[in-house]
Amino acid sequence: MTDSIAILDFGSQYTQLIARRVREAQVYCELFPWDAPAEKVQALNPKGFILSGGPTSIYEDGAPTIPGYVLESGLPVLGICYGMQALTYALNGRVGASSHREYGPAEVEITSSNPLLSAGTQSVWMSHGDRIEAVPPGFRILGSSSNSPIAAMGDLSRNYYGLQFHPEVHHTPGGMEILRRFVVEICRAAPEWTPDSIIHQSVEQIRAQVGKERVLSAVSGGVDSSVATALVHRAIGDQLSAVFVDTGLLRLGEREQVEKAFRANMGPHLVVVDAEETYLTKLKGVTDPETKRRIIGESFIRIFEEQAHQVGEPPFLVQGTIYPDVVESSGPERSKARRIKSHHNVGGLPSDMTFKLVEPLRYLFKDEVRAVGEALGLPTELVWRQPFPGPGLAVRCLGEITRERVASLRAADAIFTSELTAAGLLNLRSSQSGLKISQAFAALLPVRSVGVMGDQRTYQEAIALRAVTTEDFMTADWARIPYELLAKVANRIVNEVHGVNRVVYDITSKPPSTIEWE
Ligand code: XMP
Repeated sequence: MTDSIAILDFGSQYTQLIARRVREAQVYCELFPWDAPAEKVQALNPKGFILSGGPTSIYEDGAPTIPGYVLESGLPVLGICYGMQALTYALNGRVGASSHREYGPAEVEITSSNPLLSAGTQSVWMSHGDRIEAVPPGFRILGSSSNSPIAAMGDLSRNYYGLQFHPEVHHTPGGMEILRRFVVEICRAAPEWTPDSIIHQSVEQIRAQVGKERVLSAVSGGVDSSVATALVHRAIGDQLSAVFVDTGLLRLGEREQVEKAFRANMGPHLVVVDAEETYLTKLKGVTDPETKRRIIGESFIRIFEEQAHQVGEPPFLVQGTIYPDVVESSGPERSKARRIKSHHNVGGLPSDMTFKLVEPLRYLFKDEVRAVGEALGLPTELVWRQPFPGPGLAVRCLGEITRERVASLRAADAIFTSELTAAGLLNLRSSQSGLKISQAFAALLPVRSVGVMGDQRTYQEAIALRAVTTEDFMTADWARIPYELLAKVANRIVNEVHGVNRVVYDITSKPPSTIEWE
């Protein structure tokens, strides 16, 4: 096992970011609720602790405190914001209620040389109410800002540190280096968490878990299911069978992309099910979005059951669950509340199936999943694919689903996304311009309007283009695509796509709209 750090979550909105930064420093870490059972945290055998921020005041009734095992361990501790206040409180310093919240950028001057913070002035991001008024015995002040005379403190002999600001956010440009110094230099955790080591460990774990048994996987073409499948295949080769269901509701070239990525390695162990007819029949006449989702989810389950039967009912099933899903369903109440849409799991697997789960991505963040996918040799288009909903084009084809309408939508979508890609605006890996679009697609509206083409009057449907910028898909803004590009896309769509004579661009943010139209 590689060295690791335990992060205790006191409820800050930034806690997952701390974990991502530590992993970027190539040190493995795990998040635990602050009141997790000691044995669970100790089982990780961490080299140090990071205490996150949190929304509470240390003097509130029932305010979270530092569990005893942390300070008894003798290991280095870094408290961030509330974590610093909890550390101060536990070690008999003084925390004071500040009359106003400090939120936003600040300059911190490092006043005392120390292994965590380099000398000079650092731009940092503050977001706190209470602040430290007296450092605990043994500590000294390491840095100050105009609002926070004790913006950083440390007890260098015990390796205890506290930061009033947030090193984990982008607005603290030197924050990554601070976290790296803490985990690598102060905790002495070896920076060995690389894609190759992740693959190596996963392969061993998968082999130990499944032995000689057979394993089944459902590939959707999405990043997570693809990387999970490739990883399990690397571990157990032909013991794995993968099922890919072509619902007829996929984007242009998607099926071919998946076949290309997996066929060479998996041969007949990749089963592609052509289910377009089944889906079109079941969706005939259906216009309600939730009914579409339900039908698609149920059909998927039936098809999958049938395939599982055909390959001899393997006892194990691969699932592409990733770390944020795990953390958000087990963390403090605040994170649970952030799970706004539950129906996103449609297209998931039968709850009454009795598979044992193989979840090789369970401890990985999305960027790590992508890095592992690249290291496994999966194609770039697949690894860096934009998100695509499980129900596919059905929820972008508003109104009734017919083969013709889906074909028009697919063609319009391909024109839009290929033009964006050619302009360098839809490259999730690196954006060449200031505009980084996270998701872009076309939706077909069941609205006819009048147009004129040549000398002919037309009466046809409309395409809505949607492109958003977002960090987490919970909120989003519409992308400010250059007019010339929109003009080119609109022109191509009305000229090349059957049944469409009008194109509109969606300029609503989320909220109040959603990203998808259904
Ligand atoms: P909304 O429309 O809720 O979308 O703003 C947020 C993100 O979720 C995706 N999405 C779905 N994904 N099944 C999925 O697997 C669904 O039913 C579904 N609906 C929305 C959407 O594409 C966006 O990335």
